[in-house]
Amino acid sequence: MPDPSAVLRSPATDAPDVSPPTEPCIMLIFGASGDLTKRLLVPAIYNLACDGLLSENFAVLGTAMDGMTTEQFRAKMSEDIQKFHTRKEFDQPAWDKLIARFHYISGSFTDLKIYDPLKAKVAELDAQYGAGGNVLFYFAVAPRFFGTLCDNLHNTGFKDGAGWKRVIVEKPFGTSLESALQLNREVLANWNENQIYRVDHYLGKETVQNLLAFRFSNGMFEPLWNKHHIDNIQFNVSEAVDVEGRGGYYDSSGVLRDMMQNHMFQMLAYLCMEVPGSFEPDAIRNEKAKLLQSVRHYTPEEVDLNAVRGQYGPSLDKPGYRQEKDVNPESKTETYAAAKFHVDNWRWEGVPIYLRSGKALWKRGTEIVVEFKKAPEVIFRGTPITGLNANRLIFHIQPYQGIEIQFQAKVPGPRMQLQPVHMKFGYGEAFKASRSTGYEVMIYSCSHGDATLFSRGDLVEAAWRVAQPILDRWAATPADFPNYIRSTWGPKAAAEMIARDGRRWFEVVTEDVLKQSPLFRDGDTVFLEQVIMALKPIQVAAGDVLIAKGDPGRELFLIEQGEVEVLDDAGGVIRVLTDGDVFGEVGVLTAKARNATVRAKIPTDLYVLAKADFSRILRDNPTFADTIQRVAKERFRVDVGTDALKAG
Ligand code: BG6
Repeated sequence: MPDPSAVLRSPATDAPDVSPPTEPCIMLIFGASGDLTKRLLVPAIYNLACDGLLSENFAVLGTAMDGMTTEQFRAKMSEDIQKFHTRKEFDQPAWDKLIARFHYISGSFTDLKIYDPLKAKVAELDAQYGAGGNVLFYFAVAPRFFGTLCDNLHNTGFKDGAGWKRVIVEKPFGTSLESALQLNREVLANWNENQIYRVDHYLGKETVQNLLAFRFSNGMFEPLWNKHHIDNIQFNVSEAVDVEGRGGYYDSSGVLRDMMQNHMFQMLAYLCMEVPGSFEPDAIRNEKAKLLQSVRHYTPEEVDLNAVRGQYGPSLDKPGYRQEKDVNPESKTETYAAAKFHVDNWRWEGVPIYLRSGKALWKRGTEIVVEFKKAPEVIFRGTPITGLNANRLIFHIQPYQGIEIQFQAKVPGPRMQLQPVHMKFGYGEAFKASRSTGYEVMIYSCSHGDATLFSRGDLVEAAWRVAQPILDRWAATPADFPNYIRSTWGPKAAAEMIARDGRRWFEVVTEDVLKQSPLFRDGDTVFLEQVIMALKPIQVAAGDVLIAKGDPGRELFLIEQGEVEVLDDAGGVIRVLTDGDVFGEVGVLTAKARNATVRAKIPTDLYVLAKADFSRILRDNPTFADTIQRVAKERFRVDVGTDALKAG
């Protein structure tokens, strides 16, 4: 098989990047001793330097309360970079050259006395490095200080003189519509909108930026990109992590503020906006703003119908959200949210757009699923085909990065039978770039005055106008929390919400999900991907029997959402299985009679892998049959010959 990377050249490694470096500037970081600086900003600057994208006329001036000298700051950064750099190999000479350009002054930015020494140092560095008077102010501090900092910089004359002066502010930009409006007023009191760069780190992700490239550089999709061809769109941001010790911050935030209002609305805008007249920053941001302004604002009653919240409870060995450090034991903060939105414009009228995100879920994965309208089934009457699947275009944002198209193909053989198949593009196979932090492109673009990847005041406000009615309604009504167990798909109400529309969440089953079963633990990507494609969704009602003791088993099951009970001979419950559990593995190994009955406890969604499909996949991947044989013997006490395994 040809090596795809040999065909698709990667500018990052195969050829020198022809992009010009950053513009000359002094980067003045407020909050330079904090987490953001060491984890993201400095690794990003280092990546730019390694890739030849950092101007020689560039220096960093860090400032924070911590009493450090420049030497101590450099030593601390040199230690931290070892932990946080993202490159395969650390380039010591590049780092040595870079760190010599780092400087530090300690002090409090709320104290006006610090500004004169800072100004003098910036002037000195400007002369030393030839930065042409350009200053990039990076506010790596809490948002409540943004206004003060903007004022102080203005009042102490930092904005004067030759060169450009630009400000990057971190998220969150406001915690409500009102606070966002206030923050915009404060920040823009003395600065122009075109000097303010509001970071949303999702816009720094290659896979998110690619949404625009994909939509507007490929002619075949735009004609389909509307209500006539698209049935619904689903945005899913699942996090397996919990609040990771950030309870203090998170408890006054919640997932709607933390993920949806910003990151997810940015992706929504990219995916659904109209075609801009050009790739000029404001041409793109105008369209994004228009799109967000077209999202329907809900009444309190509509919030109840269209939005669902959740909070994780404890699992056997881990605390629930209310037991996390710095969290109110009666907290009403949502760690999960799912909502249906409507974009009230000509293109999207009537197309539901579903968003969901949560912490402590079963898997980590961000995907956007564009589900097309189904082809008419009637043409297949008289054939063994009983139903058609929708075509789906899936943007895999992370951790797997790629794009996939799902369609159906005829199964080879004399009769007309269909099977879902897919075409997939993976970034890892096509490009060889180093992993980045996402902040490289932010610093780079800001230095060039390119605000495309930054949010704008009106955009932020439009996003808050959509989120605020939901937040208000939730604040005013009781929450029945906790309502989902750690490491599941989230609250049942989210499945019920979409089911009311006759639809279901499309769960992207990943390799990690399959690997929860010993059968698949050693599987390679090709094998596992084939298994994933062969999974067929089914839904069963409470009380339905999935496996009857004594029946020959011909399939295995993966629970997507719900609960099933394993029963003993007397009908007693031996075990309850739930989201993510796999059962009935023996069924795809051998046609042995089932040794227990399994019944749905509540309405449950499952995936089924038929033995016929499993055997076919093993025939295509003969080397893997040996592994399966071994696992069958060790874990399931089934002795099965290779021929039987491969015989569908
Ligand atoms: C941050 C949120 O903005 O984004 C975190 O504050 C969240 O709670 C994080 O975990 C997710 O970012 P990523 O890049 O890991 O998807």
